[in-house]
Amino acid sequence: MTQRSGADRWWREGVLYQIYVRSFADSNGDGIGDLQGVIDRLDHLEWLGVDGVWLSPTMPSPNLDWGYDVADFRDVDPDLGDLETLDRLVAEAGKRGIRILLDLVPNHTSDRHPWFVDARSTRDAEHRDWYVWADPRPDGSPPNNWVSIFGGPAWELDPATGQYFLHNFLVEQPDLNWWNDDVRREFDDIIRFWLDRGIAGFRIDVAQGLINDRELRDDPPATEEDPPDIRRRGLRPVHSMNRPEAHEIYRRWRTITDDYDPPGLLVGETWVPSIERWALYYGLAEDELHLCFNFALVFADLRAEDLRAVVELTERVLNPQAQPVWTASNHDVGRFPTRWCGGREDASRTALMALLTLRGTPFLYYGDEIGMTDVPIAEGDVRDTVGVRLAPDAGRDPCRTPMQWSGEPGAGFTRGDVRPWIPIGDAAARNVEDQRADPNSMLHLCRDLVALRRNTPELRSGGYAALPSPPGIWAWRRGDRTAVALNLSDEPGAITLGPAGVLLATDRARDGEAVRTDLSLGPWQGAVLRLD
Ligand code: GLC
Repeated sequence: MTQRSGADRWWREGVLYQIYVRSFADSNGDGIGDLQGVIDRLDHLEWLGVDGVWLSPTMPSPNLDWGYDVADFRDVDPDLGDLETLDRLVAEAGKRGIRILLDLVPNHTSDRHPWFVDARSTRDAEHRDWYVWADPRPDGSPPNNWVSIFGGPAWELDPATGQYFLHNFLVEQPDLNWWNDDVRREFDDIIRFWLDRGIAGFRIDVAQGLINDRELRDDPPATEEDPPDIRRRGLRPVHSMNRPEAHEIYRRWRTITDDYDPPGLLVGETWVPSIERWALYYGLAEDELHLCFNFALVFADLRAEDLRAVVELTERVLNPQAQPVWTASNHDVGRFPTRWCGGREDASRTALMALLTLRGTPFLYYGDEIGMTDVPIAEGDVRDTVGVRLAPDAGRDPCRTPMQWSGEPGAGFTRGDVRPWIPIGDAAARNVEDQRADPNSMLHLCRDLVALRRNTPELRSGGYAALPSPPGIWAWRRGDRTAVALNLSDEPGAITLGPAGVLLATDRARDGEAVRTDLSLGPWQGAVLRLD
């Protein structure tokens, strides 16, 4: 499918930013971040230079999975605001050239959603078939061997009606039945409802899981070749998830979003076991999801050889028209300054440089721009149900703590006398206010990288070509004249680039340096260069 000319430039050439709304800015002193708080902080996003924002779930929810258990797909959760405030956010962001994406959770609903309340009331309820029901096996056990991503069987017996229902996540998150045409029509309508209000598109939760095998066949055992999370669960999810029939649904959605100008953007949360399979979600004719999160990079080690291998395989398998997405942190996988860099500032700066200079659309996670790290959470403060039910250290709270705006009590997130919904990290050590005052800070590096991207056509859209580099150094060209060189090691190194000029370096004292032939790089240093 061909895009109208230029209609996709904003997300192909821009930078996107994920806001975990509950933790961004609390405007009304209840300790919970909200949509008015996002409006109040739009100046920061404009100053940083981002083009679009993905808001983590905003729809009404009992919050067993913090908004990923939706009870109404056409409204706003009262903790976060209301529809009028969301409309105002879209308008205010629009004035600053920033577009707003919502998180759409089509794989499942909350068990309190009126559809499920109706579905479980009797076997012939109107919405019964909107969910996945199956009879027990003769011995009363679940219909097949599928396991929940959050642990235990993916089936729960509903004693009143005598059947099991499917939940690939929490018991309180029953899976929708995407074989049912009414479910499909309902979501067509939900997508239009939001696009008509000016929402620019959606991040689609669990995009690979939407539809389940019609025959409910057992998943086969995992093998040595499977990634660690699949080996841990013991089964390869080829029937419970990752079904080829999902592609037809995304093609259908694409025809809906293409009716808008610019077309609504579809960004998939695609946890797929291999890069080859992941690339399929763009569609063979690039007619499915516009952007798909590539978790292979997230889970690679911060080593030159490993990251280069992921990027090169990605470049090789992706349809040349399709646009890669690069992200390093999110609300599930943790923050990269901790996961990759063990809190080291120099490594974090270098990793951030990679994220913003690869070919593709980068997604920053709120706080990445100041190098926020994961915050240790005491057992009594665990808020993530996964942490509460499985094990405190399995919880995802450490990467969901409040944005550190300033060093004062409440961190500029909430009033100093208010207890935030989740503890605040060491805001005195790292915050937006202090870093704005320091031109050498990570915040300024981030802003300057975003601006350099915007002002350098080759960084926005030039191709990626690896450059030969010694061990520990990863270097590539963008287009003909722009290069990036990163030393991802504890040893100093050098790379031969020929005559060049440093446009921007992680060590800001090196900005503007002239290079004769060899660029020397200290441990965990990086530079973007113009090749002469
Ligand atoms: C996605 C979300 C995650 C949530 C899960 C179930 O993976 O990112 O936070 O728990 O879906 O909805």
